[in-house]
Amino acid sequence: MRYDIQMQNLLKKLQEEATHALTSVKIADELRVFEVAYLGRKGKLTELLKQLGSLPIEQRKTVGPIANATKQSIADAIAHRRETLGVDGKTPSVDVTLPGIRPSEGHLHLMTQAIAEIEDIFSRIGFNRVRHPEVDTDWYAFGSLNMPADHPARDEWETFFVTAPKTLQTTNYKLQTHLVLTPHTSNGQVREMERGKLPIRMINIGKSYRRQSDISHVPMFHQFEGLYIDTNVTIAHLKGVIEYFVHQFFGSNRSYRLRPYHFQFTEPSFEIDISCDICAGKGCRLCKEGWLELGGAGMVHPNVLKAGKIDPKKYSGFAFGWGVERTYMMKEGLKIDDIRLLYKNDLRFLEQF
Ligand code: PHE
Repeated sequence: MRYDIQMQNLLKKLQEEATHALTSVKIADELRVFEVAYLGRKGKLTELLKQLGSLPIEQRKTVGPIANATKQSIADAIAHRRETLGVDGKTPSVDVTLPGIRPSEGHLHLMTQAIAEIEDIFSRIGFNRVRHPEVDTDWYAFGSLNMPADHPARDEWETFFVTAPKTLQTTNYKLQTHLVLTPHTSNGQVREMERGKLPIRMINIGKSYRRQSDISHVPMFHQFEGLYIDTNVTIAHLKGVIEYFVHQFFGSNRSYRLRPYHFQFTEPSFEIDISCDICAGKGCRLCKEGWLELGGAGMVHPNVLKAGKIDPKKYSGFAFGWGVERTYMMKEGLKIDDIRLLYKNDLRFLEQF
């Protein structure tokens, strides 16, 4: 009978068991219990070693050294564990050799993701992302856009006004007592023209503010404003760029439409609607009639070019301004049917994306 082989297997198993059990030992008291359980007078290893004596001498010679090595390695492991326990031996210690626990990973907010995607799509056709102020003067937000003071067209923008800082009131190019929280990104149009570099191919993405809150409006939202100024720019270019964006962002099967509209700063003007993805164009509480308005567009009005010191006889251009939130909500399959969800900071919602 080869007791030696049987014994070797038992030793091996015991060693594995001990190594495993040691990983759950956290404080000194537990370590003492562990030590007694394996190496004490009636410990598991001690019991096994006692049986060694009954083996035939030849077999004892092979198993003996293995048994000693096993005992040594368990004793070493205990000593090592003792060193890594907390100073007082009472505080559970950290075993730095164990695999760690991964901290949960967050992700960028949906609007940050959408803005990055929009920027990327336009960059592929040569539009540069720029930034213009989100708190600006009446002139850039309205006046330069062909909206004289007291013009009724301004009513559409439900604007927040703030008192201008004293320094601006006295040192700016004009006396300003009020600034506006930009109600659209169109304030970037004349600001961009004033840089004096033509042609212009800008995409200005920023925050817009209007005093509105309901299923399709939040008081702070984002817009992306495209402006293209060059010689011989026509409405065909406008349509081409809009179609390119729609196909890139929503896929080539999605329908959109240009609807005639009025803006003071474009002529002719349009609104752009996308077929609603929530109800597949049937009409729902978000879109009402199957189409959701994403924003406006049109050919830049000559008065706006003049305000930006560009000669309307030589140059023409188009502009468009769309809401980022609505555009994102209409992405296929997302089914976000209330714009306010985007800003509630409810992780149960945000973590779905
Ligand atoms: N600024 C307009 C709005 O907020 C959109 C627009 C931008 C329209 C550019 C025409 C040209 O509704």
